[in-house]
Amino acid sequence: MSSDFSSPAPAAAAVYDATATHDAAADLPALRVYAPGRAELLGNHTDYNAGLVMAIAVNRGITLSARPLRDGAIHLRALDIHREYHGHVDQLHPSATESWANYVLGVAFQFVNTGRRLGGFSLEITSNLPMGAGLSSSAALEIATALALAEMFGHEVEPLALARIAQKAEHEFAGVKCGLLDQISSLMSAATSVTSIDCRSLQVTPVAIPSGGVFVIADPHAKHQLVTGEYNERRASCESAARKLGVPFLRDITSAQLEARREELTDMEYRRALHVVGETERVALGAEALAKSDLATFGALMFASHESSIANFENSCPELDTLVTAARRHAGCLGARLSGGGFGGSTINLVRAGQEESFIQALKAAWPKTECLVTPACAGATVLS
Ligand code: GLA
Repeated sequence: MSSDFSSPAPAAAAVYDATATHDAAADLPALRVYAPGRAELLGNHTDYNAGLVMAIAVNRGITLSARPLRDGAIHLRALDIHREYHGHVDQLHPSATESWANYVLGVAFQFVNTGRRLGGFSLEITSNLPMGAGLSSSAALEIATALALAEMFGHEVEPLALARIAQKAEHEFAGVKCGLLDQISSLMSAATSVTSIDCRSLQVTPVAIPSGGVFVIADPHAKHQLVTGEYNERRASCESAARKLGVPFLRDITSAQLEARREELTDMEYRRALHVVGETERVALGAEALAKSDLATFGALMFASHESSIANFENSCPELDTLVTAARRHAGCLGARLSGGGFGGSTINLVRAGQEESFIQALKAAWPKTECLVTPACAGATVLS
């Protein structure tokens, strides 16, 4: 796989006939699609609260090799984990045994459900994106699938509509009531830029990254149960807080207003809301800092975000806290926080350029199982050939 994600997308591949009854179009080259994972920089759990969030697409992702199949057959092969799934495009439902396949099946279901006709297809899936590391391997698989299906069956779908299809797949076939952060970041990111998303207007803005900093993702391999349940429960608390405050979303309230109306919420709702409202405010401040090339302020906002995760949103865990504490002690670290949903996953660190090696050693000394990935901000998903 090419690591030069900044190259322009290749010309569109051949469009296959959704009604084809001939055998897998062996004479046509397989369609290859790549979708990257993402790291969330600031704006934790703001997306489903219509708030602001910043992320980058990382230099790891999922590659699909796709072909149309006759008679509506679906054959999926996950080469890295040696699993297969066989089904039919007329019987799209979540698999109880092959949960990895549900991200593909959920996307196919949304295509059909929105009147976009599909024929059968085969997908071979390979990944260099660690699963369970909080880098959104699920969204990368959804986005790669959505691009492959759109391309193979000749459906023109706007990027935001494609991201919504992938999000709905996650809601309905994986049971996670996620926002749009992961899908938009995987699809719409631009190389060398932070992807800044206003989750109310769904305006996606690439923001230039000042020189002098390097992103290091640190995965302590913290495996936690009940992540989906905890995630959905946090979302429910945010929605309940917004309802009690009489606003459509937590985006519609400032931290000063929240403070003044604190008594209207339970203590837990207040703290959940405080985190989300504070995160949107930190993204706004982060954008100002980037515009002034002020990486020190951006990093300080990342540390503040993690503190709020610990105190208010309660979505960190001891492994992530150990890494953020070690990061804070390293002179080359500008900022560190958990990235994504929480309850496990990875930290994202902003480190002074040239200090990343000693920084990584410091994290490994603090938590030996830690694996680190140094990544530039990469371009979003693309059809490779
Ligand atoms: C997960 C979800 C996203 C977002 C983040 C937290 O990655 O899939 O939609 O809510 O958590 O910001």
